[in-house]
Amino acid sequence: MKKITKAVFPVAGLGSRFLPATKASPKEMMPVVDKPLIQYAVEEAVAAGITDMVFITGRNKRAIEDHFDKAYELEAELAASNKDKLLCLVQDIIPKHINCIYIRQSEPLGLGHAVLCARPVIDNEPFAVILADDLIDGQVSVIKQMTDVFQQHQCSILGVQNVPRDQTRQYGIVNSVPLADDLEQVNAIVEKPKPEDAPSTLAVVGRYILTPRIFHHLEKVRAGAGGEIQLTDGIAALMKEEKMLAYRFKGTRYDCGAKLGYLKAMVALGLKHPEVRDEFAAYLNSLGKAESKQ
Ligand code: G1P
Repeated sequence: MKKITKAVFPVAGLGSRFLPATKASPKEMMPVVDKPLIQYAVEEAVAAGITDMVFITGRNKRAIEDHFDKAYELEAELAASNKDKLLCLVQDIIPKHINCIYIRQSEPLGLGHAVLCARPVIDNEPFAVILADDLIDGQVSVIKQMTDVFQQHQCSILGVQNVPRDQTRQYGIVNSVPLADDLEQVNAIVEKPKPEDAPSTLAVVGRYILTPRIFHHLEKVRAGAGGEIQLTDGIAALMKEEKMLAYRFKGTRYDCGAKLGYLKAMVALGLKHPEVRDEFAAYLNSLGKAESKQ
């Protein structure tokens, strides 16, 4: 029985949809309330028992490494001013037993290429891929849900949800046969199809468990949709050889790669945050009332 101990976080993307905010700092460091997107993604992996975090980074992404590293000056200052709570917060961003591994992707050749960059670290093990843009708020970490499914089926698994048909152009879309309420057998996948060409409306949303055989296929994949080496094309080749499942995860997903999704995440998580939720809820309520008076 294989176990998932490694997660790959492709974080080399430019974040052009959030310019100018992302001109000098990584989009994965954008905060939702008080935590950067990448921290939510890493916490999801930690909750699944994953111990090795493999970040595929690029230029301008140093802040991610700093975020998960010790911050001597800050810690010394917090300690000197007896800000113990904040000190713990800063020191406990990541549990001590977790390894962070950084690999530079020198050219942005696509998501498939980014995942292929992780090969020297992953070697011959099944692994998770988490796209930090897709923030998923679930009672149980979505990657934990998926590693549980993996324990049972020992094959690749794609995290999926239904999207409106007019949005298929933003996603990898699967064609599948239902096996259970939340599980499908996948027999085809296409990257960003037009609504009229999409085989279904079941979209892959930034969570994958993949067997290491994917690397063999990613090496052969040529530039596809958008001129990029697509992970979806590697997955399409892999499913010709191995069983591939799609799992309808339990949780609410926010597309934080887009402004509207990011704002929704901020509101939803703001309304859950113990420090601000009551006042924030009252504020939103007052806005609603003001609007209905107009
Ligand atoms: C990527 C993948 C796509 C997937 C999506 C999920 O696209 O290529 O298959 O559905 O993430 O968010 P991107 O959003 O990077 O364009």
